[in-house]
Amino acid sequence: MTENRKALIDKLSKTHSLSAAEYLRLLSDYDEDLIKYAAALADKVRREIYGNKIFIRGLIEVSNICKNDCYYCGIRAGNKDCERYRLNESDILDCCRHGYGLGFRTFVLQGGEDAGFSDEVLISIIKNIKKEYPDCAVTLSLGERSEESYKRLKTAGADRYLLRHETANPEHYKKLHPENMSHENRLECLKNLRNAGFQVGCGFMVGSPYQTTEDLALELKFIEEFRPDMCGIGPFIPHKNTPFRDMPKGSPALTCYLLSLIRIIYPPVLLPATTALGTAAEDGREMGIKSGANVIMPNLSPKDVRKKYELYNNKLYTGAESAEEIEGLKAKFLSIGYEIVTDRGDINK
Ligand code: 5AD
Repeated sequence: MTENRKALIDKLSKTHSLSAAEYLRLLSDYDEDLIKYAAALADKVRREIYGNKIFIRGLIEVSNICKNDCYYCGIRAGNKDCERYRLNESDILDCCRHGYGLGFRTFVLQGGEDAGFSDEVLISIIKNIKKEYPDCAVTLSLGERSEESYKRLKTAGADRYLLRHETANPEHYKKLHPENMSHENRLECLKNLRNAGFQVGCGFMVGSPYQTTEDLALELKFIEEFRPDMCGIGPFIPHKNTPFRDMPKGSPALTCYLLSLIRIIYPPVLLPATTALGTAAEDGREMGIKSGANVIMPNLSPKDVRKKYELYNNKLYTGAESAEEIEGLKAKFLSIGYEIVTDRGDINK
């Protein structure tokens, strides 16, 4: 049986495409041996394009104010226990300055859907980051906006945009979000981001409530067809002030297996070993990198707000998750054969 599935993974590495039924076979029945097989192949594929380089991104959590009420997320509008904050332009530029000194050449501005970040506010921030740090990439992760807005942000100088699609199945999407949000609009936003000229990232949670193995097979088909520049996946982790508080967390091992398969499906993809993976498993980040991930995104937010950006309970923001610990992280990765580099780290496709 395992041999058959290894042959399927070999086929995937040659054709970069399988049917949904074949993806389902890979996901319905896997064991440690198969996970290792996929990880070894993913690591080889990644090294062919990026060598042993790991790219770092400085993650600046610009606001935890959000108009949405996603059932899984700790900063949902309905969470009255969340102490809200918003960084201003000078806070954000301070983070960049600090990060630049630590070797970061990509800054990711991530936040809830906060009306305080109008196009005008963002355009000024983007232009000033680019003026001070012309050798750096700016990535935005600020949710759904209009097509016009995306164009204006791109014109202002932003390079990349992360917008997880959350699930490839519209019916599943409805179980994770309130009625005023739509899967159709999510996909429309991804299309608009591409048309605006961004390097685009999508992504999903592993083990989110009501996710089936068929849904995960659909995810792989979606990645195969969409070919995102970046893909963020991490295990679902419950947050106590959400309707999903009692739902089980996603599996770190399955997350790693999926990372490997995604690397094999689309070899140049920029694939982070996410904070959620680092939170769900002790050595999650290393496991992710060994499985084919090639990006890590340490936290560069001002120290006093880090605890407040709590998407899920116990989200890490110290130790290896913290930008200040980058030297320790470099040594750790070097010891397992990977080199953290000071580089914009654009996709090599
Ligand atoms: N567990 C894991 N990931 C989560 N996210 C939001 N809430 C959770 C959670 N409880 C992810 C979503 C979102 C990204 C910023 O964080 O996929 O797009």
